[in-house]
Amino acid sequence: MAEATSTDRVIIFDTTLRDGEQSPGISLDQGEKLEIAEQLARLGVDYIEAGFPVASQGDFEAVQAIARSVRGPVICGLSRTSLADVDRCWEAIEAAEHTRIHTFIATSETHMRHKLRMTPDQVKAEAAAAVAHARGYTDDIEFSPEDASRSDFDFMCEVLQVAVDAGATTLNIPDTVGYGIPEEYANQLRRIRAKVSGDYVLSTHCHDDLGLAVANSLAAVRAGARQVECTINGLGERAGNAAMEEVVMAIKTRADFFAGSDGIPLDTGIRTEELGRTSRLVARLTGYAVQYNKAVVGRNAFAHESGIHQHGVLSERTTYEIMDPGAVGAGESQIVLGKHSGRHAFADTLAKMGLKIQGDALNAAFARFKELADRKVQLTEADLEALVAEELGETVAEGTYTLVAVESAGGTATTPTTTVVLAADGKERTATCEGDGMVDAACKAIRELTGVDGRLTDYTVTSVTGGVDALADVALQFEVDGLRMSGRGLSTDVVEASARAFLNAINRILRAQGSGEDRTKVIRPGSLRLL
Ligand code: KIV
Ligand code: ZN
Repeated sequence: MAEATSTDRVIIFDTTLRDGEQSPGISLDQGEKLEIAEQLARLGVDYIEAGFPVASQGDFEAVQAIARSVRGPVICGLSRTSLADVDRCWEAIEAAEHTRIHTFIATSETHMRHKLRMTPDQVKAEAAAAVAHARGYTDDIEFSPEDASRSDFDFMCEVLQVAVDAGATTLNIPDTVGYGIPEEYANQLRRIRAKVSGDYVLSTHCHDDLGLAVANSLAAVRAGARQVECTINGLGERAGNAAMEEVVMAIKTRADFFAGSDGIPLDTGIRTEELGRTSRLVARLTGYAVQYNKAVVGRNAFAHESGIHQHGVLSERTTYEIMDPGAVGAGESQIVLGKHSGRHAFADTLAKMGLKIQGDALNAAFARFKELADRKVQLTEADLEALVAEELGETVAEGTYTLVAVESAGGTATTPTTTVVLAADGKERTATCEGDGMVDAACKAIRELTGVDGRLTDYTVTSVTGGVDALADVALQFEVDGLRMSGRGLSTDVVEASARAFLNAINRILRAQGSGEDRTKVIRPGSLRLL
């Protein structure tokens, strides 16, 4: 449990199970809430706001189950100011090792008039009575003037003062509708501190309607707030709450900036290496996926695609990373091979995969990789393995012909036609053939260009990875005058993969026949059928 009076400690009040669960469509059962609460305890949060016990029997039971079994953090329940609500809240949390009641009532003109239908005096009296009643159960009481950032400042301070006088130990200032702007919100907190007397911890609770929840929370910390209310993955009503992982890592990473005037750095007490696991658990149980580029816990948070960045990170991680991925439970920095990647990252990735390839083969593999990456969003390790295997095959065969281009046309009412361009000895030649299918047409064109004929004894196409953009891996065997050679080809296009495999086998045969110097001699028109 955090020392509420400590000046260098920022208390982390997690409300994933209360405000976070108010995200549209999220409904966690008791078992799921318990699992998350256990993980929050492992993460080292100071407070778990476990739910709103009066909201439903299910929520009451879930809060009670958490209070009974989760040890470490203080267990808090939310309550409106009606005394019956406070009683129900206490009933749910009383079994906990340490308890807090969090009671709230709106103080903005619009909420008082249209929602509560109460006068300001009634609101003030409600706040005082609820806090005093709650104080009869536990001495850890939080009070929130809902919609604080849109409330009349002087009136809100009057309500805060009666709450402190009645025994509130934490004053939480909710930016309920995400209306605050960092400088303005921080200023409000400073003015509250100056105006409301007593011994209390100032707390921040920000919503993300303008995308400023984390910025507002951090500004509040700078203004003296020593409790931050936040949720894992930024879940919460509407656009959500301040994301805990972002708040915590900002305070940790920019310790220099957040240090107090005495130079003592702020500390949240969070075991940051548990952030990744907690985020994944919450995403899985709530069904709210984490966006790829989400700060700290998104899958791209430590992934580098451009060649310049990859080169930098491979030489020295801190060139493009301000946090250590291991420190937030995100494993290692990732080099994502895509069309922006450079040779350096390509060779490094192959080496890490145990694929030893150098010189011309490496250059050729890199050229092929770039070509494929232009067509495929991201290449997996399996794709690379297949690509290198293909390239090594070509190198062994000392490719006498190179495939320059393949163009196919076909359909239910069109005769399949394929045009193939091959290069040999610095010259390009083109052939266009029709066939039973586009693959068949491609192989006929290759046969015509190379003059090699024979029998296809085996042909298989496999997809290297799943998905419609998967690489097709074609493996075949081709026999010419009793000489059988295998060929392999890889492409996102199955016709091109087949053409590459076919040409690969023909090149090997030509090499084996020692006919590389005088290819014209082996021109033997014939028929070849594929498929
Ligand atoms: O956003 C809000 O005002 C709340 C209060 C209950 C603290 O969630
Ligand atoms: Zn809220």
